[in-house]
Amino acid sequence: MAEGSIEIYESEDRRFPPPPEFAAAALTNDRSLYDEAEADYEAFWARQARELVTWSTDFDTTLEWDLPFSKWFIGGELNVSENCLDRHVDAGKGDKVAYHWEGEPGDTRTITYSELLDDVERFANVMKGLGLEKGDRVAIYMPMIPELPIAMLACTRIGVAHSVIFGGFSPDSITDRCEDAEARLVITADAGYRRGEPSALKPNVDAALSAGAPSVENVVVVDRCGTDPEMVEGRDHWWHEVMADAAADCPAEPMDSEQLLYILYTSGTTAKPKGIMHTTGGYLTQAVFTHKYVFDLKADTDVYWCAADIGWVTGHSYIVYGPLANGCTSVMYEGTPDTPRPEERGDDRASWNKDRLWDIIERYGVTQLYTAPTAIRTFMRWGPEWPAGRDLSTLRVLGTVGEPINPEAWMWYHEHIGAERCPIVDTWWQTETGGHMISPLPGVTTTKPGSGCHPIPGTFAEVVDDDGQVVTEGGGYLTLTRPWPGMLRGIWGDPERYKETYWSTYEGRYFAGDGARVDADGYIWILGRVDDVMNVSGHRISTAEVESALVDHPAVAEAAVVGATDEVTGQAIVGYVILIGSVEASDELREEVRQHVAKKLGPTARPRAVFLVPDLPKTRSGKIMRRLLRNVADGHQLGDTTTLADPGVVAAIREGAAEGDGD
Ligand code: PRX
Repeated sequence: MAEGSIEIYESEDRRFPPPPEFAAAALTNDRSLYDEAEADYEAFWARQARELVTWSTDFDTTLEWDLPFSKWFIGGELNVSENCLDRHVDAGKGDKVAYHWEGEPGDTRTITYSELLDDVERFANVMKGLGLEKGDRVAIYMPMIPELPIAMLACTRIGVAHSVIFGGFSPDSITDRCEDAEARLVITADAGYRRGEPSALKPNVDAALSAGAPSVENVVVVDRCGTDPEMVEGRDHWWHEVMADAAADCPAEPMDSEQLLYILYTSGTTAKPKGIMHTTGGYLTQAVFTHKYVFDLKADTDVYWCAADIGWVTGHSYIVYGPLANGCTSVMYEGTPDTPRPEERGDDRASWNKDRLWDIIERYGVTQLYTAPTAIRTFMRWGPEWPAGRDLSTLRVLGTVGEPINPEAWMWYHEHIGAERCPIVDTWWQTETGGHMISPLPGVTTTKPGSGCHPIPGTFAEVVDDDGQVVTEGGGYLTLTRPWPGMLRGIWGDPERYKETYWSTYEGRYFAGDGARVDADGYIWILGRVDDVMNVSGHRISTAEVESALVDHPAVAEAAVVGATDEVTGQAIVGYVILIGSVEASDELREEVRQHVAKKLGPTARPRAVFLVPDLPKTRSGKIMRRLLRNVADGHQLGDTTTLADPGVVAAIREGAAEGDGD
């Protein structure tokens, strides 16, 4: 199992108990949370929901569980934007900084809770003025600028569900997502800064809307980079103009606990992305609880930085909803960590310094840093001179998310960034889970480098074998055994796919799609995906999506895609392509096919290498043997080939692979 995934090995000799000085200063973390949840997990979550979330009407039933459908905090009413903004302002914290925002070119904005509330109310009125009503859906395709959380919170204020589309996605992805959700409005920007240049967004929206998505009536555009995009009369509106005209007050509307909060599309094993649905009360409870305890938050003084993009679930839960509901101060950064401010840039990109990230931590006094293993491995490669004399002593907790972290990267993070002082929280969760599920708790858990350790209080996981039998020590498949408040409520428009994907493999269990191992001490080690989903730099991309983009090229007859092991990105996409009979193979064509995928799906999904092959290895029943292709991609021995329809094919592929170069 877990073929082709990253090997995680255990290091029994390296264990990190919570540092005593840290444990003494910890907020509330102690074992009692586990005990309480173990004794009565519904009562535990009910207490969290009442303590951490403000309800305009209290709930009467904590959980209704009609496997596989759950409802949480039934009868309760609340408003997410009120929880994130008004209640802090009402408590006298209006002047507290919500976001220290920094643009890639070095421009900064300091946004307080009351300023954020003002903008959210105004933008909610803008949306009302455009005819949006509770239950409608809105697509958001934006760079990492403050208007992005403002737009999301404004949606929650009036009960409109948002669907945030990652800014790196292509026009096709925008069309598909807008069509699937029948979005009535798209909120975007002309462009966002990335690697020193404006990266266009509005033209992608234009292309998407000319290809389809007739449900979209209006487009609101933030002028971020002054790139002067085309504006369609009657459909497109400048953000600054509609905001200037909007009324200032928009009271938060109480929402039912199970009101749809957002849809977020994620890759599964087929080419069509799944619209994961999250609702209001349960999701917020999970986000606010985990943000507080997993990062050991001291909300009054901490400066927390999640360096993810809001286009992914990590940004939803841990840049927007968790931190704001907890009333803490966050850093939000627009660009890439290796892009210096303009005055520090030379002409030659290769000579750009690697100071930006450390500079931001020092300048704002960041206390928690939350990032992905792929970023950590990139920092390691920048060389031992970084973080070059920067003072990182404000850091207290370091987090990692998105893919398995190898023990070396864990140790580097621990030693070089955390100065062996900061606990590391390796947080396993998914778009589907809404918030952390498996993670150490700082101040409580003795960590092992590379292990997610244990389910957090109130969540329950077990590793099972092929027959669904519980594995108490050894490898198997990761399952969740009880519902949790932040769990997905289904797949938008496709309840059957929801049941089939998550609940049909092991009876009564949620199957996460990941392989995992339990060690002799009961620690959980996540091994990576066991289905046809690749994990590239922590981004989920399905082999089927890339295959269908490959065969969309007119010269391609058939394609197979696998995830090869990659030192930095975890996995890298490798495509094997059979051309149609009449087409001549060439390097130019190979590159064209590769770029075609980027055009269809966005640059994140561009294969690292495409090999043009005469045939693909198949079993007698015609199934592509991905294991062989993965081995070729990894440069390994091919192993047993006797089930191949034509063993000669493998040799041909190997020759082709040896000739083909990735980049
Ligand atoms: O394979 C697991 C991996 O990322 C998948 C979830 O991806 P996504 O829905 O995009 O959400 C990413 C951010 C939560 C999981 O099925 N994954 C996530 N966190 C970890 C991880 N693998 C190992 N260790 C983790 N800490």
